[in-house]
Amino acid sequence: MLEKIDDLLKEVDAFSAQTKEQVEEYRIKWLSKKGDITALFEDFKSVPNEMKKEMGQKLNELRNKAQERINELKEKFEHSGNDTKNSLADYTTPGYPSIQVGSRHPLSIVKSEMIDIFSRIGFTVSDGREIEDDWHNFTALNTPENHPARDMQDTFYVSLNPEMVLRTQTSSVQVHIMENQKPPIRTISPGRVYRNEAISARAHCQFHQVEGLYIDEQVSFADLKQTILYFAREMFGAETKIRLRPSYFPFTEPSAEVDISCTICGGKGCNVCKHTGWVEILGCGMVDPQVLDNCGIDSNKFKGFAFGMGIERIAMLKYQIKDLRLFFENDVRFLKQFTSVSK
Ligand code: DAH
Repeated sequence: MLEKIDDLLKEVDAFSAQTKEQVEEYRIKWLSKKGDITALFEDFKSVPNEMKKEMGQKLNELRNKAQERINELKEKFEHSGNDTKNSLADYTTPGYPSIQVGSRHPLSIVKSEMIDIFSRIGFTVSDGREIEDDWHNFTALNTPENHPARDMQDTFYVSLNPEMVLRTQTSSVQVHIMENQKPPIRTISPGRVYRNEAISARAHCQFHQVEGLYIDEQVSFADLKQTILYFAREMFGAETKIRLRPSYFPFTEPSAEVDISCTICGGKGCNVCKHTGWVEILGCGMVDPQVLDNCGIDSNKFKGFAFGMGIERIAMLKYQIKDLRLFFENDVRFLKQFTSVSK
């Protein structure tokens, strides 16, 4: 009998079940009315008195162990759900709620790429401020009060101090840089700007720009053109063409707007380029000598070019996004599509 108890003890110790049903099977095998352990208790009655103590202890130990093991396994399966066919919990499955992989915002992706492209040809990055005074946003840039060009940009004024505005353009950073640094200057300034515009698929009251500025002794319009061509090809592909159209900005002379060959149809004509084969990407020009002087840079000695472009516009062309509002709604179904291009 002792041997039998020892064998059963070993069996209990080694027992492990794959399913709930197996646990029940063994409960019946060991502990039911006709179970092996119950049978041993029957046999116990015929054990000689002098052995009863030792045998009784062993038998109790066996029954308790078996009961504990059964309870332990039962509990385990109860916690791993009702699916009785399921085997033991798979600890390699992701937890709930599963961790969602995030992605960078498309505007951040495009901004980083712009910084990358310009830094390869020596441009640094300069930060500016979003709440700006009138001088830096307008007056130093040849746009004094009552200048008609102020109407080009509907402005949010700070109600407590109408001398202060939410900057309407990152060109304001140019002024700070020229006031505080000596040429040569070669820098870009990405940032958020604000305009009092009705929100639509093509306009928003807040958007982002990147301003570029290059000041040195010998800077020509050809340098400007080549810099923009380099940027366009790096951003949109080596086949990209650019064209410059004469334009007007108060702070540059001469001024131009730059178009690139349509990224969608390659110049053949489509809805995006309104069948012209060209889409506008930025404004630029040679820094007006008056602006250099306004900012304390000797216009007899130095020349410069500047350009400014909308990050949303570049992102819309690059990823064929038709509605500007998508950038600001933070709908994960939109943002998720950029997971693979997030760096
Ligand atoms: N600041 C202009 C705008 O917001 C863009 C611009 C045009 C910037 C010409 C420049 C420039 O630096 O030279 O529309």
